Amino acid sequence: MKIAILASEGAPYVKSGGLGDVMEALPAALARIPGNEVYLFLPYYHKIKENPAYPTERISFFDVRLGWREQYAGVMRLTNRTDGVRVCFIDNDYYFGHRGGAIYGDLDDGERYAFFSKACLEAMDHIAFYPDVIQCNDWQTALVPTYLKAQYGSRFPFTKCMYTIHNIEYQGWANGSFFDDVLGLPWEYRGCMDMNGSVNMMKGAIETCDLVTTVSETYSRELMYPYYAHGLDGIIAGAAWKLTGITNGIDVNTFTPETDPNLPAHFNADTFSAGKAACKAALQREVGLPERPDVPLMVMVTRLAGHKGLDLLCYIARRLLWEEECQLLILGTGEKQYENFFRDLAAEFPDRVSAKITFNLGLAARIYAGADIYLMPSKSEPCGLSQMNAMRYGTVPVVHATGGLKDTVPPCDENGEGGLGFTFQSYNGDDFLGALRRCLNLYHRNRDGFRALQHRDMIQDFSWDKPAGRYMELFHRMLNR
Ligand code: GLC
Repeated sequence: MKIAILASEGAPYVKSGGLGDVMEALPAALARIPGNEVYLFLPYYHKIKENPAYPTERISFFDVRLGWREQYAGVMRLTNRTDGVRVCFIDNDYYFGHRGGAIYGDLDDGERYAFFSKACLEAMDHIAFYPDVIQCNDWQTALVPTYLKAQYGSRFPFTKCMYTIHNIEYQGWANGSFFDDVLGLPWEYRGCMDMNGSVNMMKGAIETCDLVTTVSETYSRELMYPYYAHGLDGIIAGAAWKLTGITNGIDVNTFTPETDPNLPAHFNADTFSAGKAACKAALQREVGLPERPDVPLMVMVTRLAGHKGLDLLCYIARRLLWEEECQLLILGTGEKQYENFFRDLAAEFPDRVSAKITFNLGLAARIYAGADIYLMPSKSEPCGLSQMNAMRYGTVPVVHATGGLKDTVPPCDENGEGGLGFTFQSYNGDDFLGALRRCLNLYHRNRDGFRALQHRDMIQDFSWDKPAGRYMELFHRMLNR
C-alpha cells in the first residue's frame, strides 16, 4: 500500500511533544510491513535545514497558490534515512526560516500550515507519488482532507484520507476572512469549517476526511463530552460513525534499559533489581538528593502545563512531604507559576525535593531508569507516552484514569496485583494522594509485591507493531468502502 504521512513535527528532525515521537515511530512501523511504501512529509524548518546530519536533495519545486499569494515550495528528500521511510521536507524560507525559537506560536501559523498542507498535496503530484491513503495529524495538517476533496480530487481520484487527533485543545482557529484571503477554497466548503463565523480547521478535517482516529480508545469516547472536547463535542458525536481510537506505542528500540546509552547501568526485566539500584544511586547524586536506596523516589518528567495535573501535585505536595517518607524529583519547563512552585519547594525541602527546570532528554532517560514511582495525574491525556517509557524502565506509574492513561495503566490492588499501576478516577488532589499512598504503602510494606509489579510493567509489549496493524486495518477499511 502507498501511504503518505503528513505532520508538522517528527523526531529526530524536529519535536516539541508526543506528536514528534509518534511521527518517528509510526512511519517506521508501517514501512516494516511488507508491501508498504511510506512517505513522510514535514516542513523544512531552518533547524533541520542547517543540521549537517540531515543531507537532502531537491527533487521538485513549484509555486503554491494561497488566495492571492504565490509561494515557492521546494521538495527536499532526505538522502540518509535507511529504514525504508522516504522523508520529504517542504522548503520555504518565508514560512519555515528563522523566526525565533519555537516551531509554533507565530501570528501567521494558520497561513504557514495552510501552505504546508497544500504544498504536500502539490508535491505528491509533482513527484508522481499517488498514495492510496493519506494520514494527517492535528490542526496543522487539518486542511489536507478538505483541499483533497475540493481541489485535488481529479489528481488523486482514489486517495482516501485519515485524520488523527493527538490533542483536541489546539484546533486551528482563524477569522472568517481567512477562508477567502488565505485558503481560497470554493464557497461550498465554508460551512464545514465554520464555527460561529470563525474558521475552525480541525472541524473541517473531521467533516471532510474518510476516517477520524484519536490516539487512545478511551480518549475517542471522552471526546463526545464537552469536558474534554473544547467545543467540538457535537461535531465529534456527529462523526462517531467514522471515529476510532488506536492507542499509541513507543519506540521500544530507543527505549530499552538494556542498551540505552544515557544510563550509568543497564538492566532488563530479570536483572532490574541491581541495575535499577545503581541507576537510582547515580540519579540521586546527579540531582543533588541524598543517596538513600530505601526511600521511594517519585518523579515527573513533563511540560509544566496545567492540564498535566500539576495543580493537584501542588495541592498535595507539602502534605505528602510532611506525612510520607519519600523523595520528589521534577524535570521540565513551562508555565512560570509551576516553575517557581517547584523551585520554592526544593528550597524548602532540600533533602527531599529536586527541581530541574530544564529540557534534557538524557536526564529524562536516567530518571525513568533510576526512579521508583512515576506520577502522571493529567487532567486529560489523549494518550501519553511517558507512562509507557516509565513502565518499560521498571518505574511504577500513578496516574489519573483518563484517556490513554486509563488504557495503558490498568489498576492494581493494594498488593500490586491485577494491574500495572495505581490510578484514581475523579480529578481531585485527595484522590491522587490516596492512589500515591497505596503505592507508597506497597513499596514500604511489601517490597516483593512492589518488585513483582515492576517486573510486570517491564515485560509489557508497548511496541508499535500492534497499533501499526490497526492502522493498516483502518486503511484497508477506507479503501474498500
Ligand atoms: C499529544 C497528546 C499526548 C499524546 C501525543 C502523541 O501530545 O497530548 O497525550 O501521547 O500527542 O499522540
